[in-house]
Amino acid sequence: MAKLLLFTAALLLCAVCAMSANRCPDCGTTPVPYPLSTGADCGDQEYKIRFDEGKLIFDSVNSSYSIAFISPETQRLVIRPASFAGDTCITTDFPKQGIQLNNSLPFNVTSSNTIMFLNCTESLFRSPLNCSSISLCHTYINGTQDAAACVDAPICCTFKAGGSTTAYSIRVRESGCSAYQSFVNLDPNAPLDRWPEPGVELQWVSPREPVCRSQADCTEGMNSTCGPDPATTGVSRCFCKSGLSWDSIAGLCA
Ligand SMILES: *[C@@H]1O[C@H](CO)[C@@H](O)[C@H](O)[C@H]1NC(C)=O
Ligand SMILES: *[C@@H]1O[C@H](CO)[C@@H](O)[C@H](O)[C@H]1NC(C)=O
Ligand SMILES: *[C@@H]1O[C@H](CO)[C@@H](O)[C@H](O)[C@H]1NC(C)=O
Ligand SMILES: *[C@@H]1O[C@H](CO)[C@@H](O)[C@H](O)[C@H]1NC(C)=O
Ligand SMILES: *[C@@H]1O[C@H](CO)[C@@H](O)[C@H](O)[C@H]1NC(C)=O
Ligand SMILES: *[C@@H]1O[C@H](CO)[C@@H](O)[C@H](O)[C@H]1NC(C)=O
Ligand SMILES: *[C@@H]1O[C@H](CO)[C@@H](O)[C@H](O)[C@H]1NC(C)=O
Repeated sequence: MAKLLLFTAALLLCAVCAMSANRCPDCGTTPVPYPLSTGADCGDQEYKIRFDEGKLIFDSVNSSYSIAFISPETQRLVIRPASFAGDTCITTDFPKQGIQLNNSLPFNVTSSNTIMFLNCTESLFRSPLNCSSISLCHTYINGTQDAAACVDAPICCTFKAGGSTTAYSIRVRESGCSAYQSFVNLDPNAPLDRWPEPGVELQWVSPREPVCRSQADCTEGMNSTCGPDPATTGVSRCFCKSGLSWDSIAGLCA
C-alpha cells in the first residue's frame, strides 16, 4: 500500500514537472506563464521580462514599466503607463520618447487601447487623431486629479491604437505631444468614475518550438526531437514527435 502511494506520488510529481518544464518559477505569488521568461533557463528567450523587487517588469527599448496583468490564453499583458512628472503635463518617459517597443521582438500594442495624447502642439491638428475640443481626452483632463496640470495645455487628442503606425510605439516628443495616457477596453460613454485603471495592452506572437543545441535540450518533459529549423539556417528547434503537436500556450508537445 505504502509502495503504491509512493509510486502514485512519483507519477503525479512527474506529471507536474513535465507540464512545467519550460515555465519560469512564479514571481512571488504571480505565475509567469510560458513563453514569458524571467531567466536564461526558463521560458522562451525572445519573450524576456524581469522580476524585480517583487514585481514583474516589462522593458521597452529605453524605459521600464510594471506589468499589471497577464493573460496567457489571449497572449496579452497589460503594463502601467508612465506617470506625470511632478505637477506637469509631461510623462516621466518623455525624455525616452514614451513607449518604444523593439519591432524585432514579438510584442506589439493591441487595438484595445484608447490612447490620449496630452499637451500637444498645433501640428497635431494635421493628424488623423481626434483633437477636437470635445475629444474624450478633455473629459479625462477635466475629471481627474492625476492630469490636473494638463488643464493648462489646451491641445489633446484621442485615438484607438492599432494599425502599423502605432503597433510598436506610443511616442511623445517636444514637437508633438509631451504626455499620454491609455485605457484598455474603454467604453467612451462610461462616466469617468467607471473607467478602468490606466494601462497599455500588449500582445505577443505565438512562440515557436524552443531552440536547442542538442537532444539534451529537448528531453526534459518535451517529447520532442532536436532538429534543424527549415525556416532559419543554423538554428535547431525541439520539434514534436510524430502524433504530437506544439502547444504554444502550454509550451509543450501534446
Ligand atoms: C507641455 O510640454 C512642454 C514641452 O515639453 C512643456 O514645456 C510644458 O511645460 C508642458 N506643459 C505643462 C502644463 O506641463
Ligand atoms: C535609447 O537609448 C539609446 C542608447 O542609449 C539611444 O541611442 C536612443 O536615442 C534612445 N532612444 C530614445 C527613443 O530615447
Ligand atoms: C532589438 O531586439 C534585437 C533582437 O533581440 C536586438 O538584437 C537589438 O539589439 C534590439 N534593439 C534595440 C534597440 O534594443
Ligand atoms: C471626437 O470625439 C468626440 C467625443 O468622443 C466625438 O463626439 C466626435 O464626433 C469626434 N470627432 C471626430 C471628428 O471623430
Ligand atoms: C473641460 O473643462 C473646460 C473648462 O472648464 C470646459 O470648457 C470644457 O467644456 C470641458 N470639456 C469637457 C469635454 O468636459
Ligand atoms: C500584433 O501581433 C499580433 C500577434 O502576432 C498580430 O496578430 C497583429 O496583427 C499585430 N498587430 C499589428 C498592428 O501589427
Ligand atoms: C510523450 O508521449 C507519449 C505518447 O506519445 C506519452 O505517453 C507520454 O506521456 C508523453 N510524455 C510527456 C512527458 O509528455
